[in-house]
Amino acid sequence: MLGNFIYSNPTKLYFGEDSLNYLNEELPKYGKNVQLVYGGGSIKKNGIYDKVVEILKANNKEIIEDGGIMPNPTVEKLYEGVKLAREGNADLILAVGGGSCCDYAKAVSVSVHCKEDPWEKYYMKFEDVDAGTEIIPVGCVLTMVGTGSEMNGGAVITNHDSKLKIGHIFGDRVFPKFSILNPAFTFSLPKYQMVAGFYDILNHITEQYFSGEDDSTSDYIMEGLMRSLIHSSRIAVKDPENYEARSNIMWTATWALNTLVAMGKSTDWMVHMLGQAVGAYTDATHGMTLAAVSLPYYRHIMPYGLAKFRRFAENVWDISTQGKTEEEIAGEGLDAMEAWMKELGLIMNLKKLGVTEDMMDGLVKATLIMEGGYKVLSQEDVLKILKKSM
Ligand code: NZQ
Ligand code: ZN
Repeated sequence: MLGNFIYSNPTKLYFGEDSLNYLNEELPKYGKNVQLVYGGGSIKKNGIYDKVVEILKANNKEIIEDGGIMPNPTVEKLYEGVKLAREGNADLILAVGGGSCCDYAKAVSVSVHCKEDPWEKYYMKFEDVDAGTEIIPVGCVLTMVGTGSEMNGGAVITNHDSKLKIGHIFGDRVFPKFSILNPAFTFSLPKYQMVAGFYDILNHITEQYFSGEDDSTSDYIMEGLMRSLIHSSRIAVKDPENYEARSNIMWTATWALNTLVAMGKSTDWMVHMLGQAVGAYTDATHGMTLAAVSLPYYRHIMPYGLAKFRRFAENVWDISTQGKTEEEIAGEGLDAMEAWMKELGLIMNLKKLGVTEDMMDGLVKATLIMEGGYKVLSQEDVLKILKKSM
């Protein structure tokens, strides 16, 4: 039975090849000073930076340059961004990039008028933004597909000193006010990043699918999303500029983590907790950290949620059931997922991401245990899964 919930999603999306033009409609709603957030330079190479700056200038905006956001943005970078926003009196934070830029923009937006250290308040104590605290509005121009950050309130920040990578789910007030999604802007992504994003999408869905035993509309929606992703990813990996495939994937990514499919059901999120611990130690690409731990994790918990794993095999991977036990069907589903992951060229091994044996104890401690999935893991379980992922 669906649990009770309240659903709203305040982000306005502009989707398609001409979507950047709609920045002209959004900008007049905000004040003069725009903090332009971007990464390590991809948008300067592919021309998106010039296009955005031209629109900002045409709308008489003052630009506060805030480039160099690294993948897996750090707490030090967050402090720098807050300083820039305060000095420049930012009225809008415009993130042009992937999940790292969108997350960073949201983290800055809630920290500018925060009187405490934002890392302590939001990431160590998991406190909400105080009701009276002003939040600088955020807009996104998405160039990398995967995280869903363009339409949710999440912001993940990494603290290398304390070896912690933590996500805070902020409320409605922190969702981007608008997001611009042009699938063609993702064509310049290197294959490594592209497929890491594809896996991130699938894993966002499985994190929400592998939980609960009741009949939930959300599970049917997720099966459709997964089928679409698998189909389009097979096309995109061979033909990255296939607009139809890339646009379907972009839209799937948004729905995978814009909060809709989680409504009324429990969710798991343990693969992300394992992946975030790995990210804190290695700074590896987010989607690859998930790919490396997923199969050992799912094979470990399969006996505790067998019926759902069987359903996954049948409804997502079209595994035939005749003459097979439930375990065999469920296992073949995960085998099919493994074959697809190899087809994409994902890194499915922690050693290749820089994990060494001496990190194991630290990784176990850095892995936050979630309780919504089929099995609440013990520290021994976590260690076993990490070792199997090496
Ligand atoms: O920095 P630049 O030069 O722009 O290069 C980026 C970066 O190196 C590059 N890139 C992006 N768009 C490109 C491009 N290169 C060429 N052409 C383009 N069009 O791709 C690299 C990765 O970008 P990044 O933004 O780091 O990737 P992603 O979107 O996967 O974001 C990862 C971050 O999001 C967090 C992750 O933990 C990680 O910190 N997540 C956020 C979530 C959320 N807000 O809900 C949920 C996710 O599970 C995830 O945890
Ligand atoms: Zn993710």
